Amino acid sequence: MPFDAFRYAHAHRLEVAWLSQNTNHLVPPEVIRGALEQAIGERRYEGYPYGPGDPELLELVRRDLGLDGQTPFLTAGGTESLYMIARALLAPGDEVVASDPSYLIIHRFVELAGARTRNLDIYAPPFRLTADRVQEAIGPKTRMILLIDPLNPLGSGYPREEVRAIAEIAHDHHLLLLNDVTYRDFADTPTLAAEFMPESTITVWSVSKNCGLAGLRVGGFIASPELVRGVARFNTNDLGVNILAQVAALAALRTKAQWFGAVRRQTRENGARIRSVVEEVPGASLPVYPSQANMMVIDIARTGGTPEAVQQELLERYGVFVRAGNYLSPAHGDRFVRVSFSNPPADIDRFARAFPEAIRTLAARAPTLSS
Ligand SMILES: Cc1ncc(COP(=O)(O)O)c(C=O)c1O
Repeated sequence: MPFDAFRYAHAHRLEVAWLSQNTNHLVPPEVIRGALEQAIGERRYEGYPYGPGDPELLELVRRDLGLDGQTPFLTAGGTESLYMIARALLAPGDEVVASDPSYLIIHRFVELAGARTRNLDIYAPPFRLTADRVQEAIGPKTRMILLIDPLNPLGSGYPREEVRAIAEIAHDHHLLLLNDVTYRDFADTPTLAAEFMPESTITVWSVSKNCGLAGLRVGGFIASPELVRGVARFNTNDLGVNILAQVAALAALRTKAQWFGAVRRQTRENGARIRSVVEEVPGASLPVYPSQANMMVIDIARTGGTPEAVQQELLERYGVFVRAGNYLSPAHGDRFVRVSFSNPPADIDRFARAFPEAIRTLAARAPTLSS
């Protein structure tokens, strides 16, 4: 049986430095704990939530994004929104301009709708889409552009003018623009495409990463009332999103301005530390630095180790969980691992000790490549 990294990591979760899923382990726990304890004390879990979602939560989301006039919709994580959007807005034969590497579950949802993605290879500078390449990729079947900003897995962020140019292309060609902003809070100067093209942009948001709530599953989308009506028909969570998850998201968003600055600072410091470690490892490099998100790619193609072997060695031997690239890139997934770093510094210390040793060990096992 092949090694099941997730099964292993979950079984050892108390000992594992979880650098594999871009989760955020830096949010002050008392922010969430107090709210959850109160909700449990009131046994709120006995009843169904208010179907459309807590109105204050929805309003906080709208204000957080600054998208007045748009309608927020709540789902169990951004993932559920992405599925609904693909089902509702794409038809068989449609094409979506996207990238490789990318967050590939979205591409799978596109395919479930009978549509296909046109993946532009972005594993070269500037490691993101450009308006020119998007323009070239548009054909008669194109229906949507997928703009993940900042991008999982590379950590690339889009300059404001590029977002504007891509939004204008979408406008000129009557296309939908799916703007996934899951990692937006980590960026220096995030820009929402909806600012430029509110009528046909669907913005997908999440509290999994910024608020450290990945396990609770809250996210959603926000768009014009007409678009939201069309997508909402595909909602399966008719009885509402998990009440405890909503309570936690509300507590987090009410207070985010007070603690997110510290989360971001520590995340950036950790990123810098990882860079200094990677720089000392022969053959390893960072395509994008600094990351505008809380993760980045480490290219290991010239180290002699494969991503799967590096993932397994780091996890089994050192309790450090990074993610092999194949899940994020059909074309380049055999070149890299992804590491995320919204973690306590002690987790990064473990990575710093483990990564050079793991690469040395694997290089020694593959003498022809490492020489
Ligand atoms: C780009 C992107 N979009 C959406 C998601 C899904 O997030 P959620 O936990 O809200 O379903 C992720 C999770 O990693 C992601 O990287």
